[in-house]
Amino acid sequence: MTQQNEQPLLKKLASRRILLGISGGIAAYKSAELVRRLQDAGADVRVVMTRAAQEFITPLTLQALSGNPVHTSLLDPEAEAAMGHIELARWADLICIAPATADVIARIRAGMADDLLTTLCLASKAPKVLAPAMNQAMWSDTHTQQNINALAQAGYQIAGPAAGSQACGDVGFGRMLEPEQIRDAIADQFGDTSLTGKHVVITAGPTREAFDPVRFISNHSSGKMGFELARAASHCGARVTLIAGPVNLPTPDRVERCDVISADDMHKASLALAPSADIFIGCAAVADYRPAQIETQKIKKSGDTLSIELVKNPDIIADVARQTPKPFCVGFAAETNELKKHATGKLTRKGLDLIIANDVSNQAIGFNSDDNAVTVYSHSDTTEFSQCSKAQLANQLIELIATHLD
Ligand code: C5P
Repeated sequence: MTQQNEQPLLKKLASRRILLGISGGIAAYKSAELVRRLQDAGADVRVVMTRAAQEFITPLTLQALSGNPVHTSLLDPEAEAAMGHIELARWADLICIAPATADVIARIRAGMADDLLTTLCLASKAPKVLAPAMNQAMWSDTHTQQNINALAQAGYQIAGPAAGSQACGDVGFGRMLEPEQIRDAIADQFGDTSLTGKHVVITAGPTREAFDPVRFISNHSSGKMGFELARAASHCGARVTLIAGPVNLPTPDRVERCDVISADDMHKASLALAPSADIFIGCAAVADYRPAQIETQKIKKSGDTLSIELVKNPDIIADVARQTPKPFCVGFAAETNELKKHATGKLTRKGLDLIIANDVSNQAIGFNSDDNAVTVYSHSDTTEFSQCSKAQLANQLIELIATHLD
């Protein structure tokens, strides 16, 4: 049974990828328990052991507990082929070293990369938590204190050590924190969990409507806003599926991507995902019309004019909003005049819960620019967001959407 006060902790650690580094100290046996505590909270744990750590606890024990192969060497071709050290560094949402000995602390502080664990610390941008464990005299030594202070300044989170009796018989600071305390220090590194457990589906970018094998009708949408929303929602713990039209953007970390070309493809993908979606955000600039016919051969140049008959595309977000159960639906409205009237008209007509409106007559914002400024209308209130980067705006919009779900 889950305690009420454990809920936020479980949310923070659910599906987080934790790389646990174990260095060579007597407290290494407690790391086995730490693996269990992290897994109980839903984290995915991979273990890296230094050579000295293997003198205290076997890789086999940690492999059995973590359910993953234990990484021990930088220069093992077999391990590198399975998951190379750079891949492992990228995989981690957080690196925790427990126990962190005086030696490993000194090597990390010096920027050394003489084994797998120190190399991963250098190669990864993920937050790092150190749980020091050593003899009390070694802990209070000037060198160790200077190293710890330098690492704390560089952004490392230092968890412990605690005071008490030590394996060597001394009494003082140097005992590693208990596994639950280290787990809590790790959980504290993960911020907003407002969308944990939610599935967010986002459409982004333009669509392309072909009229012969080499030509199409499209628009200038860059997809940036939708991709930033995907990143921001994922950061808040959501499972995110991004249905992307043809854009030249990398997929945000942890986001599932479904590439589509035409409005019809986007419509199919959206309706297929709608039943599992808690939130649907229609950020794509969907072409309103498509050619009635796609010629099988390239259309040849002939007369001075060429007419192509266009037919209306399905309204994707309106169709999603008609589903039962209906996800919380958020649309965009790019307007050049009478922003409020047109945006709230779409809110009602398409059956949406929120509409994010922007004035595209202003060149500094919208479509291909990096900045945006919007007004968000719900059925009961209005929220203004002044000009900022699309990344910042995406964070604010996701926060606003999360508050509407409560
Ligand atoms: O009607 P308008 O194109 O201005 O509406 C914009 C909103 O509707 C956006 O959220 C857009 O993603 C969505 N839309 C859609 N399918 C269409 C047209 C627009 O989902 N065919």
